[in-house]
Amino acid sequence: MKGFQDNFMWGGAVAANQCEGAWNEGGKGMSVPDVDWHNPHLNRAGKRDEDSEMTSARLKELLTIKDDNQFPKRKGIDFYHTYKEDLKLMHELGLKCFRTSINWSRIFPNGDDEEPNEEGLRFYDDLIDTIVGYGMEPIITLFHYELPLNLVTKYGGWKNRKLIDFFVKYCKVCFERYHSKVKYWILINQINLIYVESFNSLGILSDSVENLEEAKYQGIHHQFVACSLATKVAREIDPSMKMGVMISDHNCYAETAKPEDVFYTYQKNQMSQMFYTDVRIRGAYPGYALRFFDDHKFHIEMNEEDLKLIKNYTADFMAFSYYYTRLNSYEKNNKGLNDISKNPLLKASIWGWSIDPLGLRNSLNLYYDRYGIPMMIAENGLGALDELTVDKKVHDDYRIDYLREHIKAMKEAIKDGVDLFAYCPWGPFDIVSCTTNEMSKRYGFVYVDIQDDGTGTGNRYKKDSFAWYQRVIATNGEEL
Ligand code: BG6
Repeated sequence: MKGFQDNFMWGGAVAANQCEGAWNEGGKGMSVPDVDWHNPHLNRAGKRDEDSEMTSARLKELLTIKDDNQFPKRKGIDFYHTYKEDLKLMHELGLKCFRTSINWSRIFPNGDDEEPNEEGLRFYDDLIDTIVGYGMEPIITLFHYELPLNLVTKYGGWKNRKLIDFFVKYCKVCFERYHSKVKYWILINQINLIYVESFNSLGILSDSVENLEEAKYQGIHHQFVACSLATKVAREIDPSMKMGVMISDHNCYAETAKPEDVFYTYQKNQMSQMFYTDVRIRGAYPGYALRFFDDHKFHIEMNEEDLKLIKNYTADFMAFSYYYTRLNSYEKNNKGLNDISKNPLLKASIWGWSIDPLGLRNSLNLYYDRYGIPMMIAENGLGALDELTVDKKVHDDYRIDYLREHIKAMKEAIKDGVDLFAYCPWGPFDIVSCTTNEMSKRYGFVYVDIQDDGTGTGNRYKKDSFAWYQRVIATNGEEL
């Protein structure tokens, strides 16, 4: 049985808001990640739960802070100015594809502007040309949390149906401009993450709605319709473009073989993951989701035309990020979709993310059996506290071990029959972390000398994993 196909896309993935910086340059408007505050007394393992929501009062308070260093994503790693050198390094690494996002707030600074910002488009013209010039296939995410802040404060985020039109207008501008250069598009990053966050994913301020949970599902309905409409527009412009649906895969295992554990874990996986891909790939709301709405007395406004669009304009490929698996116990974890246990059988990073390569093979099989469409691993990797030695080396054998085992798992999944066509490890050069807003959580093959407080030379140094991944790519996954 053969492993990776000859044209397998070995890549790397980043997001504009975590690397570009230049938050107020080039006509860019303020966006949601620009108010992501770094807590110097961070509780690393608990951050996601602490900060998944935003209130109007907290937002107001954050907007009064004048010190940009408290908002690491405003500066990122200055990729806005250094992308040519960074992409040159990625070319040297041998990447076949490079995933990044277009920052919505560079193109429509307020989200509701009449005309797009030409300066923002010119930046992406050159960025995409540079990626293509280095022989890498660009994979472009259109919404990686970069919601123009004005769409939060003036419209209430994705709960408002008007967001559909703003998003589709923005997509159309990008499709028209880049269709001849960009084949693979991910419309929304990790569309399922609304069960952990309402601000990043949907731009909903928790105190601005009567029922936050219901508002999140209304917001997601609008995202589904927006994705289908954007797919329709893309097909009219250039049918060779491929539209992907992406989720964050946090597959849950049942703690015991007790039928209640098994079934309620399955239900948790349905509503936290498969609901999203079922709608975007199968083209309809599944019965279990409609029942979930009924059981919770959620009233979601949707019309016939919405359902027709959802049915007719489904995704061409499925992408998912894979970092860890979760554990669920019927007795202990009954406080909602994000109530889970630690798996005592797995090691975890200091951020509490379990390390489970076999889980990746399991998920690939699970999704491919269910949908039978091409699969992409849009993110994977180990966030770690790297040490730069005095001679400017980083000996990150722990990262090599992590990636090696996950690549082996992908190879096995391919032998199981899964059509996997791309693998994009997260942050091939260090960038600001999404959930903890710190530089210290590093994923890269390239060390970027910037620290949590914004100090550092900004110099780039190849880690040991650089040469290792270079060899993996050169041998198409044969030498691990
Ligand atoms: C995914 C996001 O959830 O995980 C990325 O799409 C993010 O934006 C990645 O960076 C890893 O998370 P973190 O918090 O370690 O950066």
